[in-house]
Amino acid sequence: MADTLAMTRAPILGLESEGTFLAVTWADGRHSRFPAIWLADNRPENRKGRDGQRLIDALELPEAVTIASARATPAGIEIVFAGDARPALFDAAWLRAHALDDASRAERRAAPKLWDAALAAALPGGDYEAVAADERALARWLGHVRDFGFAVLRKVPTVPGTVCAVVALFGYVRETNYGRLFDVVSVPQPQNLAFTAIGLGNHTDNPYRDPVPQLQLLHCLEAAERGGESVVVDGFAAAQRLRETAPEDFERLARMPVPFRYVEPGRVDLRHRAPLIELDNEGGVRTVRYNNRSIAPLDIAAEEVPAFYAAYRRFGRLLHDPALTIGFRMAPGDLFIVDNRRVLHGRRGFAGGRRHLQGAYADMDSLLSTLRILEGRA
Ligand code: OGA
Ligand code: ZN
Repeated sequence: MADTLAMTRAPILGLESEGTFLAVTWADGRHSRFPAIWLADNRPENRKGRDGQRLIDALELPEAVTIASARATPAGIEIVFAGDARPALFDAAWLRAHALDDASRAERRAAPKLWDAALAAALPGGDYEAVAADERALARWLGHVRDFGFAVLRKVPTVPGTVCAVVALFGYVRETNYGRLFDVVSVPQPQNLAFTAIGLGNHTDNPYRDPVPQLQLLHCLEAAERGGESVVVDGFAAAQRLRETAPEDFERLARMPVPFRYVEPGRVDLRHRAPLIELDNEGGVRTVRYNNRSIAPLDIAAEEVPAFYAAYRRFGRLLHDPALTIGFRMAPGDLFIVDNRRVLHGRRGFAGGRRHLQGAYADMDSLLSTLRILEGRA
């Protein structure tokens, strides 16, 4: 059957029942097909409220689900399933929001905004006072983290522990063996070699953890007199460039597991084995890991090792390419946050004075949840 109805939020031009599918043509020309079994599982009364938890198990569905009839009514799309007397009433806007055609599915995936050195002209950022007091400013700042995997926050009080208060604006500190927060204190000519003033190459933190900390914050309490600039690079952009220029190297890094390890004798022995470039189910880059300090001896077939190093070094050069990296100097009160699965950070060597940063880890799911709630209120 075919039907026409203008609905305010998701106007429909045509509706066609194909037995095991419902075909909908929307007013903007988009065409979406909904499988009968998907509709039966998602009928509104199977859920506690519109977005609440599902009340049935898919095992309770009939073996074969077919649509006996479908029609557009002012209240929504009414579907009668074969052998089931109760009609199901679907909100057209809900169906549109969950449509399974390629364009609709692509719209629902957050697309990272890849960036290069040009982002330095306008670093994604915010001011602590505004972000802490104003939901819209907070949403903007969190939106930068989602889109760029990186944002700066200025005028953060230089009070020790404030990095945890920043995390509390959107989520929860992820405590590790380094504590709820950790101090990065460095002095020139250190007595203790742990407190060095040398530069750190671009890296992601803690690849020896599973799961890896997804967000890292670094808050500057005291800056060095000279040097000590922070560096960031978009690992997704570098991986994209590797994929375009050296697809075999990209494929190799996505395939070969790398062991990472961090040891404090008698106290900590963290290990994780994962590729430098991890792909999602659709072939997109999900996670980048790169940390020369914590990569353990490779544990792959000897014949594969030379080609791995060639690919690893090519990727490493991209991750330090001035065309892709951004350097910026943190003054006391500056903080930056990175998506540690995507954006690498490093620091240049420094001299003079005392330098003190405080860092903390957090997870992305809470940040995105907070962001969705804030955007829903706007
Ligand atoms: C770190 C780190 C950077 C810096 O502690 O993970 O990368 O600027 N520090 O000291
Ligand atoms: Zn680091």
